[in-house]
Amino acid sequence: MLDLTGKNALVTGIANNRSIAWGIAQQLHQAGANLGVTFLPDDKGRFEKKVRDLVEPLNPSIFVPCDVQNEEQIESAFGTIADMWGKLDILIHCLAFADKEGLSGEFSGISREAFTKSLDISTYSLVRMAKSAKPLMKEGGSIVTLTYVGGVKVIPNYNLMGVAKAGLEMSVRYLAAELGSHNIRVNGISAGPIRTLASSAVGGILDMIHHVEQVAPLKRTVTQTEVGNTAAFLCSDLSSGITGQIIYVDAGYEIMGM
Ligand SMILES: NC(=O)c1ccc[n+]([C@@H]2O[C@H](COP(=O)([O-])OP(=O)(O)OC[C@H]3O[C@@H](n4cnc5c(N)ncnc54)[C@H](O)[C@@H]3O)[C@@H](O)[C@H]2O)c1
Repeated sequence: MLDLTGKNALVTGIANNRSIAWGIAQQLHQAGANLGVTFLPDDKGRFEKKVRDLVEPLNPSIFVPCDVQNEEQIESAFGTIADMWGKLDILIHCLAFADKEGLSGEFSGISREAFTKSLDISTYSLVRMAKSAKPLMKEGGSIVTLTYVGGVKVIPNYNLMGVAKAGLEMSVRYLAAELGSHNIRVNGISAGPIRTLASSAVGGILDMIHHVEQVAPLKRTVTQTEVGNTAAFLCSDLSSGITGQIIYVDAGYEIMGM
């Protein structure tokens, strides 16, 4: 039923084997998609090697650097897609960043620099990538981003990232409204807490997970694979009528009032 054969998918945000993007890449590959992978370059090339070794079994046909704060790298990544694939069907936006000062302590104390950087990387990057993806999604397409309930409700320590996610979720709606006439769908997955590199920077992530395990209807949090399965569904024709939505993959936590 879920067949992505013949679809070209660009996956951003793989840092290591705990990354949600890694769970998504595996499920897209299993469904038959042809993968392209971006990595965040660093001076010593450590991320590149780590991500390259990790994704090798999935045979990505494109593997390129893409720091979303770097215009040249964004242009170059989508230029490579145009040259090698000619068209893009799926864009997975699975990245975020906030300085430590934005993820604990007093919200009112967050600096202008930290605020701007976080929203640039975590929120604007979706809009920027959608701009480059649009002309390549000639046969329509699906854009999926990752968000968290901390973008609609106050979660202790999520602070700055909550603002970034609120902006991201609204960007999903505005992009969906614009791109719908090109048969490009834009949706977000609001995932339950999962231990990853990024989430470990949020103060008290383990407490969040334990809280979800007690309160969520399913009495547990979710896995990368479960998020990956929902992403594959949102990228497939099975979800052809869904756009502009935030789908909760959180073991039901979001419905609970207490
Ligand atoms: N882990 C959770 O509990 C959870 C829950 C809901 C949503 N999310 C969201 O899932 C997404 C993926 O996070 P994760 O938890 O898998 O952590 P992760 O650390 O594995 O992934 C974060 C990614 O962001 C990338 N990144 C940071 N700055 C970048 C930049 N300037 N340019 C390009 N890439 C950059 C990193 O390289 C990394 O690959 C994020 O949007 C996060 O907010 C995570």
